[in-house]
This record gives sequence, C-alpha cells and structure tokens, in this order.
Amino acid sequence: MRLVILGCGGFIGSHLLDRLLVDDRFEIDGWDPDVRKIEAHLNNPRLRLRRSTIRAPGALEDIEAAIARADVVLNLAAICNPADYNKRPLAVINANLFDLHPIIELCSAHRRWLISFSTSEVYGRTIASYLPANKYDDPALYELREDDTPLIMGPIRNQRWTYACAKQMTERLIYAHHAEHEMPFTIIRPLNFFGPKMDYIPGRDGEGVPRVLACFMTALMDGKPLQLVDGGQARRTIISIHEAIDAIMLMLERPEKAQNNIFNIGNRNNEVTMAELADAMRRTYAVITGSPRYNDHPIVHVSALDFYGTGYEDCDRRMPDTSKAERLLGWRPKRPLSEVLLETMTYYHQHYARDERTHGLQP
Ligand code: NAD
Ligand code: UGA
Repeated sequence: MRLVILGCGGFIGSHLLDRLLVDDRFEIDGWDPDVRKIEAHLNNPRLRLRRSTIRAPGALEDIEAAIARADVVLNLAAICNPADYNKRPLAVINANLFDLHPIIELCSAHRRWLISFSTSEVYGRTIASYLPANKYDDPALYELREDDTPLIMGPIRNQRWTYACAKQMTERLIYAHHAEHEMPFTIIRPLNFFGPKMDYIPGRDGEGVPRVLACFMTALMDGKPLQLVDGGQARRTIISIHEAIDAIMLMLERPEKAQNNIFNIGNRNNEVTMAELADAMRRTYAVITGSPRYNDHPIVHVSALDFYGTGYEDCDRRMPDTSKAERLLGWRPKRPLSEVLLETMTYYHQHYARDERTHGLQP
C-alpha cells in the first residue's frame, strides 16, 4: 500500500510512522518541514520524506505525482494549537483550509482515497451550553454524533473559531467532492489525543503556549503554578495516542468500512474537567518523581482574556458517540486516563530531565 502523508513529522504523524514503518507492506511519501520527532525513520528506505511544506515552490507538482501513484492520501498538516486561533487567524485559516484546497482537488481528480484529520472542534459548543440552566442531564443536548449533531460556533469576533470553521469548510469541500466526483474519503474527528511527543515545552524546544498537557507539564517541571483558565470547568475526553493509531490502522485494513464515513475518535470513559486534569497530573507527577510535594503543587486561576488574549471562547464539553467506529471498525479504546497520563508524563519527565536539573527542581 502506497501512502502519501502530509504533516507526517508532527505528534500524530510520528506515532503513525512508528506503526506503519515496522510493516513492510507500506511505502510512504511524506511531507513535513519539521523532522525532529521522526529522526529515527529518516534513513528508512520505505519513507521518502520531503522536508518542505506543501506550499513550497514546486511542491504541488511533486505531491500530484505521489498522489497519482498512491492508494491513500492522509492529511495531518495543520496549525492546531488553540493559542494561535485568535492570535494568528489568517495563518490558521490558510493552513486548515486554503492550503488544503489544491490537495483535495488533486485527490478528487485522481479519485484517490483521502483520509483527512479534522477535529472535534467542528462541533463547537454544545446545545446545552446555550441553555439558561445546566442541561447536561440530557445526553441529546451534549453528546457529539458524527452525522446528526449540529456544528455550533460563536460570533466572528471570537476568533477562537477560525480553526473549527476552517476545518468544517474543509470537511464540506471533501464531502462535496465525494458527492459530485465520487472521491472516496474518510474524515477523522480526533478528541484530545495524549501521548509522548505531543507538544513542545516552552523555553526548552519551542516558544509560546502549547496545548494543556504541555502547559501543565511545563508548570510542574518549572516549579510554577498550574493555571486553570476560566475556572477549569471545561471538559475534555482524553485518549491514548496508541489507541487512536489503532483506529487509523483498522481504517487502512478495512477500506470498505472506513470509506465515505466521518468518525469520532475519542475515549468517552476518560472525561475530566480541566480542574480534575490538573489535580490528576500533579498526583501522577508525585508518583513519577517519588516526591509527595507534587500532590500539593499550586494551582491558580486565570481568565481566558489574560491567558489567550481577546477573541478566545471555549468548547464546554466534548463527549463523543463512538459507536460508529466500534460497529464498522471493531474499535473500542480501553486505556484509562491514569495509564495515559503515567506514560505521557513519564516520557516528558525523562525527555526533559536534564533541563529539570538545570532548573534545580529534581526532588
Ligand atoms: P502537530 O502540530 O503535532 O503536527 C502537524 C504537523 O504538520 C507538524 O509537524 C507541522 O510541521 C506540519 N505542517 C504544518 N503545516 C504544514 C504544511 N504547510 N506542509 C507540511 N507540513 C505542515 O499536530 P497533531 O497533533 O499531530 O495533529 C495532526 C492533525 O490532527 C491536525 O490536522 C490536527 O488539526 C488534527 N487534530 C489533532 C488532535 C490531537 O489531539 N492531537 C485533535 C484534533 C485534531
Ligand atoms: C485542542 C486543539 O484545538 C486541537 O489540538 C484539537 O483539534 C482539539 O483539541 C481536539 O482534540 O479536537 P483544546 O482541547 O481546547 O483544543 O486545547 P487545549 O489547549 O488542550 O485546552 C484544553 C482546555 O484546557 C481548555 O479549556 C483550555 O482553556 C484549558 N487550559 C489550557 C487550561 O486550563 N490551562 C492551560 O494552561 C492550558
């Protein structure tokens, strides 16, 4: 099976390559300017990697040639860090919509199976969140079903929604090419994959505000308080990256089931508020370091305005219905949050331990 993978050097791409490249059935044409997470694979003869963006001069011709000989095209290339959505809205819209437009057209012209990574953020906020009283007692008002749930986003001035809206339009373009030109497709809506190599650590190997796991991890390693945005009551379901990759592998093995479907990929049993996540992470870090003082690591409250700047608005809750993936792919995630955190945080602790000594924080 020949695969084209765009954005193969990121968090999900690196874990996907780990899995695909141990299996000699797969040959990969990959694109990503950032190869730090996939260095172990750079000399693999079954990976033909271009260290470039899909926008670089000449890249599209090269991508078209690869698509023409491919069985599947997977798109992972994106800007997908919430701190960027309201601060770099044009870059976010371009990366998640306009840059992908030519790729979708090429897949359509060559009738290639496009597996596109969308996001659970396309659902926006739940119906329940707009009702005057808390209506979370009725799952119909908050559960996210791929083919039924409306996609609800806030006003234009809240630029948080640039990412979700660009992803939604990309989904609609893909669906339209399927409807009008019979392009086979699969849309994956991930819900908060956690695992090793997820994000950079500010001040070590990147700058800015990463996703919540790396924010809390940085605070623990730097001896700074964990910051809870707007009370920490937003809820997320957390899934192990390895079980998410299982789902993708099952899709590749069962094209007749996977094609022309949208799938939520998440673990509905691992739901936490961000306040609960902060507490779980400090307790896990106490176990990893052997230092009980992390059990009481400080947690402070911060407003979204102070943390993200103007135009941020949060997704209140993301509870996926994953029965479609279970029925069609035979996939059901099982790893509890405690196991996911232990593996992920141990990786970060080991990977950045030298830096931690520099900060004088070893227990
Ligand atoms: P990531 O940021 O770790 O990886 C994205 C990769 O794309 C990066 O390596 C980046 O260098 C590359 N890239 C960006 N622009 C590019 C371009 N123009 N050309 C080539 N490469 C480019 O993100 P991730 O967590 O691996 O997410 C992958 C996909 O899954 C994205 O589409 C994202 O929106 C989606 N997603 C991820 C999650 C999650 O929990 N990780 C959740 C929802 C959606
Ligand atoms: C993320 C990103 O948009 C994408 O990577 C992805 O598409 C999407 O999840 C998804 O899984 O579909 P989000 O979960 O909001 O979105 O991003 P995080 O940065 O991980 O934030 C999660 C929650 O933690 C938010 O409520 C945020 O306000 C909060 N947070 C973040 C804190 O309380 N403290 C922090 O230090 C950082």
